[in-house]
Amino acid sequence: MDGRFSRDEAIWQDVIVPWVLCLQAFQTAPRGMMMGRPLGTAEEVHMTGPAAPRLMRRVVVHADRIEIVTDAPVPSPRPGEALVRSVVTGVCGSDTHAAHGRHPFIPIPYHPGHEVVGVVEQVGPGVTGAEAGRRVTVEPDLPCWTCKMCATGRQNLCENLRFFGCGWEQGGMADLFTVPADRLHVLPDDLDDTTAALVEPLSTPVHAVRLGGDAFGCGLDGIRGRSAVVLGAGTIGLLVLAVLKARGAETVVVTDVQAAKRDKAVSLGADAAVDAAAGDVADQVRAALGQSADIVVDCVAIEPTMRQAVALAGKGGTVVVVGVPAAEVTIPLAIVQDQQIRIQGSATYLPGDYDESIRLLQAGAVRAADIVTAVRPLEQVAEAFDLAASGEHIKVLVSIGEPSVPAPAQDTTAPSLGNG
Ligand SMILES: NC(=O)c1ccc[n+]([C@@H]2O[C@H](COP(=O)([O-])OP(=O)(O)OC[C@H]3O[C@@H](n4cnc5c(N)ncnc54)[C@H](O)[C@@H]3O)[C@@H](O)[C@H]2O)c1
Ligand SMILES: [Zn+2]
Ligand SMILES: [Zn+2]
Repeated sequence: MDGRFSRDEAIWQDVIVPWVLCLQAFQTAPRGMMMGRPLGTAEEVHMTGPAAPRLMRRVVVHADRIEIVTDAPVPSPRPGEALVRSVVTGVCGSDTHAAHGRHPFIPIPYHPGHEVVGVVEQVGPGVTGAEAGRRVTVEPDLPCWTCKMCATGRQNLCENLRFFGCGWEQGGMADLFTVPADRLHVLPDDLDDTTAALVEPLSTPVHAVRLGGDAFGCGLDGIRGRSAVVLGAGTIGLLVLAVLKARGAETVVVTDVQAAKRDKAVSLGADAAVDAAAGDVADQVRAALGQSADIVVDCVAIEPTMRQAVALAGKGGTVVVVGVPAAEVTIPLAIVQDQQIRIQGSATYLPGDYDESIRLLQAGAVRAADIVTAVRPLEQVAEAFDLAASGEHIKVLVSIGEPSVPAPAQDTTAPSLGNG
């Protein structure tokens, strides 16, 4: 895979604690799988020197506060790992849920920061391809590489999956972190750091839209000319909209309960945006679409949206479930059967989705100025979490270094960056 480093399977020999990833629908996981590794102690993070360890800043999310530890030991890369200096990280919905104790599979305290851009500082033994000085982003799922799913190229569904920055011993909200080098994607020079922070969040929508296109036999190429609906215009929904439009969907109608999110969807190219609080939302969406939906992407995944999704898909449509359901959802199965509706779950991403995200960002199909609504320095990480949880932002970033921003010529509305 272009831009990815070779991996050293030996580093996984000690992988004995099954993990559940942070971002997908894992309500079926047994509670016993929620046990996390303890937070990184000096031994765990492999201090660089026993006598005088280098120290660094590192964010720890506790149940009642977000702490910036200033004397955490700098980790040393083990075989197959790279030491990366963080430049910027995104705050994800999973982070704000975890910080409020509402994420069942991220045990707190934890080290956040799975949407991270940084620069390789050092590599451990056995790493080929990674070099100090390379600008990278992290693909944060940490597969076991030995289970059936990993053996068949579906490592996003790894049976022993763990997740960097979501309960793992390290995250990107620190001056430095180590991660298996095979989890790094080298960033092209023309992608600034701020835009590159969107690679991970964009990869979930890319994966979901690809699965939606599979119903038409050809992944992302199956989207061209299709009618689509996006339920929920949060960060994920707006990025789903962008991917659908970039891949040639003919009509995309978006719903949200918030007027500001609907307006944003229209400004980003939605053909119509419907108030999800309306009693006849499905009828309004159908009218705006002018036909049934080939693809409905549910980025909320509650019972009302799943019922709307099934109603909108009509005969032969596909419903892609991207939202993480917080509770059991009942759907009209008789309609699903009779109308041959395909219900398709979507869980994070694969390396090819990262490649596509990078291409979309390079092409300007998604612009940081449209999506990044606030940037806060690491010292203000608690405020960044509050902004992200407010529902008024799209993507909030935390700068650890000095992230580059889009060039004015490419992104004329960029001045709002950093002013939050
Ligand atoms: N499948 C995956 O791999 C994956 C990855 C990341 C996030 N997620 C999940 O995707 C979902 C969306 O994430 P996000 O970051 O965009 O969240 P978000 O909070 O930014 O957006 C949710 C949006 O849904 C809107 N909404 C609420 N109720 C609605 C309704 N009934 N109808 C229409 N819109 C409604 C909200 O107003 C908000 O704009 C979450 O459940 C998140 O956990 C899944
Ligand atoms: Zn995320
Ligand atoms: Zn596996």
